[in-house]
Amino acid sequence: MDLYDKVMDLAKRRGYLWSSFEIYGGIAGFVDYGPLGCLLKNNIINKFRERFIVKEGFYEIESPTVTPYEVLKASGHVDNFTDPIVECKNCLENFRADHIIEEQVDIDTESLSLKELEEVIKKYNIRCPKCGGEFGEVKKFNLMFVTSIGPGKGRRGFLRPETAQGIFIQFKRLAQFFRNKLPFGVVQIGKSYRNEISPRQGVIRLREFTQAEIEYFVHPEKKEHEKFDEVKDLILPLLPAEHQLEGKGIIKMSLGEAVDKGIIRHQTIAYFMAQTMKFLEEIGIDREKIRFRQHLPNEMAHYAIDCWDAEIYTERFGWIECVGIADRTDYDLKSHMAHSGEDLSVFVEGEEREVEDYEIELNYKVVGKIFKKDTKVIESYLKNLGVSDKEKLVKELNEKGEVEICIGDKSFKLTNEHLKIEKVKRVIKGEKVVPHVIEPSFGIDRIFYCLLEHSYREEEDRAYLDLKPEIAPIKAYVFPLVNREGMPELAKRIRDMLRENKIIAEYDDSGAIGRRYMRADEIGVPFCITVDGQTLKDNTVTVRDRNTREQERVKIEELVDYLRSKISS
Ligand code: GAP
Repeated sequence: MDLYDKVMDLAKRRGYLWSSFEIYGGIAGFVDYGPLGCLLKNNIINKFRERFIVKEGFYEIESPTVTPYEVLKASGHVDNFTDPIVECKNCLENFRADHIIEEQVDIDTESLSLKELEEVIKKYNIRCPKCGGEFGEVKKFNLMFVTSIGPGKGRRGFLRPETAQGIFIQFKRLAQFFRNKLPFGVVQIGKSYRNEISPRQGVIRLREFTQAEIEYFVHPEKKEHEKFDEVKDLILPLLPAEHQLEGKGIIKMSLGEAVDKGIIRHQTIAYFMAQTMKFLEEIGIDREKIRFRQHLPNEMAHYAIDCWDAEIYTERFGWIECVGIADRTDYDLKSHMAHSGEDLSVFVEGEEREVEDYEIELNYKVVGKIFKKDTKVIESYLKNLGVSDKEKLVKELNEKGEVEICIGDKSFKLTNEHLKIEKVKRVIKGEKVVPHVIEPSFGIDRIFYCLLEHSYREEEDRAYLDLKPEIAPIKAYVFPLVNREGMPELAKRIRDMLRENKIIAEYDDSGAIGRRYMRADEIGVPFCITVDGQTLKDNTVTVRDRNTREQERVKIEELVDYLRSKISS
């Protein structure tokens, strides 16, 4: 058994994680959180809320997981959210083409096209690992679960592939809520769904998983973060993309230096790297097993121009991506603006001034013929441009004779033939801007597994989870030393008293006391309280510390305060 097997065995036996649909044979990519798993996961999420909602002042929203087609068409997921798939001609089993190659030959598949992946499979005669059969064509497979909304054919929809979109499409109301003041942060925590082709990494690659995402809306021209000074001296292990290419490996550098040298291009990304580090350490992830890796240009999601992953080390899988901190620019808002026709800009107040503005209209006869049903999208894009964006557009058009506009994942080339431009003078008291988005996106299930693995300890006579008292699902077990002389009754009363004071406690009277300690240690209970003969004389109990196994006598009436101070320290 490697460490993964040991941790998963404990998790299964003791009610942390179970395979879903087990009595029907199970399906890969789904996991159930058992009673202790739910408590632990909630404690992790509470810590996330404490850091980002209480301390940072962000607000959380909750939107549906079922999402209509239009939203995910506009966001680019319908066209781009794909993985390369290949089918065995013999047993008809499907595999991820890039994974199947990497498992069998030492080739980096990151930048290979579908055709190139297919050529590699042919060249190296890569065969189906199940039956040895030959592979067919490599195709694109969209990872979204399809559904329909309403009866009959209904309206096309998907289960959301990320929680982020729910925030973007409510941007208008959110901006109003924040009184149009940038920057502001919005959180969504909930399930996301990806129909992964062949999820074989246990809890690491799931088809249904929990994300905790922050969409932080910033002024498009501001790369500074108000509180950057507070974190600039923090030294983090970084693996920047250019260094990866040159094979230089990890550098340890302060965030201030990394931003000054342009290694991290946006102060807000660096700021969130620091907050991510703090959060992961607060819940108990081993600091030495965290690093930040910048995406290579060809591995970036379709909406991002920069992305840093917080990776956490695990024995079986090596470094795994647990948090992605991406610069999504104005990609999503502009795309939803164009597709919905709604204005998703904010008005940033400034000095009153007279500006030269432009009224830009489409020459429908020409545009309609060329761009057909995209004409409406182009029209609403142009309608919602701010003064400086229009200025840039006209300048480019004059200089180059054409201008390229990007809406979501599509781009359109426009010339003077397509546009009617009129110069007008206007007095303005500010500027309409479409905010840029910096997005830290946390995968709670991966963090959950890493936390179990990093907490797992083995000693000669026991295995235990070294969970921080604040994070541990059950804070205390209460035992009677013997099952007579009123000890069980008193122990139960102590358990009830602790629960009444919001400290989750359990009672256990079966087996020898040593066995009871072992059971509690294994699930990470930080304190074991024993009622013994002396308790009946002086109202004190023993409190045993899980890690040191040392015991202290504490008065029953002081027990709640004693545990509270230990749990929150
Ligand atoms: N909104 C941005 C976004 O969704 P992502 O890198 O695709 O970005 C963010 O996902 C995080 O969600 C990842 O860092 C990972 O922790 C988690 N995640 C993604 N796919 C997952 C899967 N199939 N199973 C479990 N967690 C996953």
